[in-house]
Amino acid sequence: MALFEGRVNAGNQEIFAVLDVGSSKVACFIGRAEPGVGIRIMGAGYHASLGLKAGAVVDMEAAEQSIRHAVEKAERAAGLAISAVIVNVSTRSLKSRHIKVETEFSSAEVADRDLRRVLDTALAEFDEPEHAILHALPLNWTVDDQRGVRDPRGMFGQRLGVDMHFVTAGIGVLRNLAHCIERCHLRIVDMVASPYAAGMGVLVDDEFDLGVTIIDMGGGITTAAVFRDRTLAFVDSVSVGGRNVSSDIARGLTTPLEAAERIKTLYGSALESPNDDAQMIPCPPMGAQDELHYEPRSILTRIVRSRIEETFEILRDRFKAAGVEDFAGRRIVLTGGGAELSGVVQLAEYTFRKRVRIGKPHGVLGLPDAMIGPNFAVAAGLIKYAMHEKREAISGPPDLSGNRYRSRRHAGGSFGRSLKWFRENF
Ligand SMILES: Nc1ncnc2c1ncn2[C@@H]1O[C@H](COP(=O)(O)OP(=O)(O)OP(=O)(O)O)[C@@H](O)[C@H]1O
Ligand SMILES: [Mg+2]
Repeated sequence: MALFEGRVNAGNQEIFAVLDVGSSKVACFIGRAEPGVGIRIMGAGYHASLGLKAGAVVDMEAAEQSIRHAVEKAERAAGLAISAVIVNVSTRSLKSRHIKVETEFSSAEVADRDLRRVLDTALAEFDEPEHAILHALPLNWTVDDQRGVRDPRGMFGQRLGVDMHFVTAGIGVLRNLAHCIERCHLRIVDMVASPYAAGMGVLVDDEFDLGVTIIDMGGGITTAAVFRDRTLAFVDSVSVGGRNVSSDIARGLTTPLEAAERIKTLYGSALESPNDDAQMIPCPPMGAQDELHYEPRSILTRIVRSRIEETFEILRDRFKAAGVEDFAGRRIVLTGGGAELSGVVQLAEYTFRKRVRIGKPHGVLGLPDAMIGPNFAVAAGLIKYAMHEKREAISGPPDLSGNRYRSRRHAGGSFGRSLKWFRENF
């Protein structure tokens, strides 16, 4: 088997491996960029996950085994062994922090070094020892009193400012996740917030341009992101997922958890339908003493709906509190396994009063049939993220040392890359 180190150039091809560590499944995609064609999946695999809860490792040994199985399947399919991965982060500690800074600049017109200095100032302002920065995105530039500047270079003035969006996560959770992946002999090339990856995996250009909200409904956690002007502007999460819906069903219908999971996918809906009262759902017994019993579908619908409606309402209130509601666009895209629940699109339309669609991976060639659903949006997005030039002020894996940002540490390659991005995109 050929071995590659994270990012290699084999001829004119770059190969990447990504890992979506979820609470229901771990997925591994190995892909390459085909110039002029797009991104092709060379091998993909997934495995039911154990030892993970709402994006956090709760059993190191079990989580390690789940990751190993998923990676082995992808490696076998691709015919090569991987040694490094880009991994997603979907913990409930995922947070957005917006910091605005302004610096005086000495030269007459704004130059690269002025951008670097103001970005450095913003990074140095971030002072939360318990959190690590996953993404640092410039949302807006200002020159003196002029706002909404797309590229300040070449402009004249005295003060250069930037609105920075930091996406952060708890250091403890990240350290455990990193340790678990390292135990599988994999180096972490980068860590990406799950809803960011989900957006990359399913959104189309118009949505990125006009503003859009993505809600990834996983097994253990629901994460959300708002994109505006092609940039990630906000993330949040609610630690409620499909598994909570299933356990509500198990409790409400007095049936085992596995049966509840099956009942959810077969008969579950977030929306009432006229003959719900007449349709009786078979509920397997809890133990040997019990017997199979039947419950009307209307009870099931009520259980499912109330949990999902509550999750949507929490997110709606958070968007409102964060002031992102207005620029989040008129559209919501749902990803994750929970997006496959019947009636969920209509319930989201009703709760958010926006157009809603289900997002499935697009723009990656060669995905196996079993991995084209919304639950593989994050894995697909990670591989697209790997191959796109970033609009970020830092790159590479987050600093998990808990120390404050020092400009010298990042100033070389990462800013070089981000400035290159500016040159090519404005
Ligand atoms: N047809 C369906 N109807 C309802 N729910 C479904 C359906 N298919 C899958 N699910 C639910 O989707 C969830 C799994 O989704 P997904 O694979 O996106 O989770 P994950 O990425 O492993 O978890 P997380 O992102 O929370 O860490 C499970 O709770 C499962 O019950
Ligand atoms: Mg997930």
